Amino acid sequence: MALADHVKSGFANLQQNCFHQHTIHVGHRFLITGGAGFIGSHTALGLMEQGHSLVILDNFDNSSPDALLRVEELANGSGSLELVEGDVRDADAMERAFQSNGPIDGVIHFAGLKAVGESVRDPLRYWDVNVNGSRVLAAAMERHGCKTLVFSSTSTVYGEPEIFPLREQTPTAPIHPYAQTKLAVEQMLSALGRNGAWRIASLRYFNPVGAHPSGRIGEDPLGIPNNLFPFITQVAAGRRDQLQIFGNDYPTPDGTGIRDYLHVMDLAEAHGMTLDHLLKQAGPTTLTLNIGTGHGLSVLEVVHGFERATGITIPYKVVPRRPGDVPKLEACPLKAKDTLGWTATRTLDDMCRDGWAWQQANPMGYRGE
Ligand code: WQD
Repeated sequence: MALADHVKSGFANLQQNCFHQHTIHVGHRFLITGGAGFIGSHTALGLMEQGHSLVILDNFDNSSPDALLRVEELANGSGSLELVEGDVRDADAMERAFQSNGPIDGVIHFAGLKAVGESVRDPLRYWDVNVNGSRVLAAAMERHGCKTLVFSSTSTVYGEPEIFPLREQTPTAPIHPYAQTKLAVEQMLSALGRNGAWRIASLRYFNPVGAHPSGRIGEDPLGIPNNLFPFITQVAAGRRDQLQIFGNDYPTPDGTGIRDYLHVMDLAEAHGMTLDHLLKQAGPTTLTLNIGTGHGLSVLEVVHGFERATGITIPYKVVPRRPGDVPKLEACPLKAKDTLGWTATRTLDDMCRDGWAWQQANPMGYRGE
């Protein structure tokens, strides 16, 4: 189907504002780095639906411009979106993002690399893109007097925790370069926060899955998915024969690994609420928040939950553990609740249903068009 037809059918299927309402002052101008990616596109849509103007800086390294076309189509005239195509490490591109149509009130920094295995093979690239990219961004923010920032961090900064609940003050112990670079940025930002009037939040995401309920935007991994959820949806679609379950000899009730999966729409809402919170702070603020449901699920629980939600059987075989995997990660999300009033509201059923709708409507992701 031609892109224009897709855009038309998208309008026809438009579901009015699928984001739960929360208050944010209308009419801000935000810069979203990596706004075409999985989490970035859902967050961008939520902010546009609230009437904000967005500048999106993205180099489409692991994302597609089609995601932004669809965000625009779903926003249906609410808010606005401008694209600056470029790399976060490129100071000129960053400057263009800050110089487009008016001052930026706040930034959400998603742009970065996120594959654990790749980070072990090529650590320098991870330090360059994730850490240097964040430094280029922070320097531009300083130059332009914009000091409100939400940073995409990760639950993997906790390494292999043994004691739960996992609170933000739990000691960090990252075990691969991906997590090390995310923690380094957190540390760089808190040093910055101590020196001036910055309002900074680092959000430590657990495992975001699912898609916008319209099925128009979702996760679009390149090649064979690394992650459990897109692998399951591709098996369901017949694109892969069977799921490999990486180990059933972990010290968990059914022996498979436990993670805290949350709906990407809940995560997107957390970003809007974090910006709202930061913009209300009169003084310097540095905040670190876990963003998860607080309820871990094993690989088998996810597989069976998907089967229940969709009626499709997922063939699987158990294979040895994947190097670098930990038995369990599960958030204590109470600080996000106390600070922002945010809690995840969507269920595993919602995650499976919405992720499956996206996969069915876009069997080859955005590249199918
Ligand atoms: C989940 C569980 C696997 C695939 C991810 C990102 C990482 C970070 C955190 C952002 C584990 C098992 C998986 C498969 C399986 N993201 N599994 N078969 O490892 O928690 O890491 O979230 O910061 O960048 O990679 O998520 O979805 O890969 O794995 O059995 O084919 O599913 O062993 O227990 P993970 P995941």
